[in-house]
Amino acid sequence: MLINKILLDKYNVPTPRYTSYPPANFFSEDFTYAQSLEALDISNKEQPENISFYIHIPFCSQLCYYCGCNTHITNDKKSMQHYVDTIKKEILLYKNHLSSHRKISQIHWGGGTPDYLSSEQIADIMAVFFENFNFIDGAEIAMECHPAHLDFEYIDKLIALRFNRISIGVQDFNKDVLKAVNRATPLIPINELVKYLQKQNISVNLDFVYGLPLQRLDEFTKTIQKAVEIAPDRIALFSYAHVPWVKPHQKILERYDLPDASLKTEMFEAAYTIFQENNYISIGLDHFAKPTDELSIALSNKVLSRNFQGYCTKTTTGQVYALGVSGISQLSNSFLQNTKNITTYTQNIDKGEFAFEKAYFLNREEKIISYILTEIMSNRYLSFKEVSQRYDISYEEIIKITKVDLGKLQQFEDEGLLQLSKEEIKINHQGLFFLRNIASTFDPLMQKTDKQFSKAL
Ligand SMILES: C[S@@+](CC[C@H](N)C(=O)[O-])C[C@H]1O[C@@H](n2cnc3c(N)ncnc32)[C@H](O)[C@@H]1O
Ligand code: SF4
Repeated sequence: MLINKILLDKYNVPTPRYTSYPPANFFSEDFTYAQSLEALDISNKEQPENISFYIHIPFCSQLCYYCGCNTHITNDKKSMQHYVDTIKKEILLYKNHLSSHRKISQIHWGGGTPDYLSSEQIADIMAVFFENFNFIDGAEIAMECHPAHLDFEYIDKLIALRFNRISIGVQDFNKDVLKAVNRATPLIPINELVKYLQKQNISVNLDFVYGLPLQRLDEFTKTIQKAVEIAPDRIALFSYAHVPWVKPHQKILERYDLPDASLKTEMFEAAYTIFQENNYISIGLDHFAKPTDELSIALSNKVLSRNFQGYCTKTTTGQVYALGVSGISQLSNSFLQNTKNITTYTQNIDKGEFAFEKAYFLNREEKIISYILTEIMSNRYLSFKEVSQRYDISYEEIIKITKVDLGKLQQFEDEGLLQLSKEEIKINHQGLFFLRNIASTFDPLMQKTDKQFSKAL
């Protein structure tokens, strides 16, 4: 038994995933356009200096019923082309607001399904970056792809555009599961895609989801076994987040007997064991990487970080500037979220204005809390001394700002989840399964929130 069942019952309560602090449901519409421009201006003077761009392509050809992403099902080529043209304008808008000495370290294409766009459309957008920005050496250019659209010719075009990371949404190899969730099957078998990509030195990630209808322990174990045989550089194993109050289409899946919490735990444990046996290192909550992967190396050097796009290293991660509907810019001092409405988005950008709809401006204390939560969630470690030096703050002030209940931390230590001293917190192996719970003790907002979150595991 990998996860202590008594602790699991105790701690499997709704908790934020801390992809950001504060979580996105705290962002508000109560801000002025001038404030958002000022936040962009300030971001030029703060660390990290590098620029990460996130491009949200919301289009998909078919709705997967489990989907929790921001998607728009369409085959309207004209509106997709208008969207592409708008993204190009938005890049130029950013160019006007970002210091020219800053360089791009990362471009991440997510969605939706970015590979639903033609390779010419992708090339068109990339050309605007290449013509208007400088890049650091070895910048990461990544795309989340749906294998239903991915073939060798498309991959060749991405590589010619300097893409060096491809993530493929597999979800499950079992065709019955894919059919139940209305997901199209791959154009080319996943093992062939991965082989082709890796031969050309492209880092490959495969996404899986557990908790979907018809998934059973023995079959899901086969899926994960097959995944490690294919040997991608990284594997993401997401717990299905069933949030029908946000994504009403997920209700369709309630006609099935969805895996309950104990089956989900068994599936996770079986997968975790296979990853361990096959020498994959666990990263954060739900990622696994080969020991030679830069995420594994960053974890051992305590320089792992994360943003809305996933785990990354502190060296490549820049402040994130998001393009496209619903994209969230994650700056040193603020979060700026674009509207989710495609028409409003294109109208704003066509007028020469950003399409920010929600924002959150962090004060110094919130920046400190954000840093602490990222350290716990990424590096499974917190050095109070390092936080003190970085923010010129005493241990007592850290405790005061975070409102952390030291009694609760002591309890985690008694339960074997972590080792606590006045200098640092080291999370034990058992504590990895309760990272969200441990992090939430440093979150003063959790002590008074009425917001809804998915369960911790
Ligand atoms: C934008 S999609 C990846 C690209 C492409 N749209 C696809 O589906 O292959 C990002 C990933 O989020 C995960 N995902 C989507 N909805 C989810 C949910 N409700 N719970 C957990 N993971 C989810 C899936 O693993 C999916 O691959
Ligand atoms: S899982 Fe991917 S392909 Fe399916 S609807 Fe969501 S974003 Fe689109």
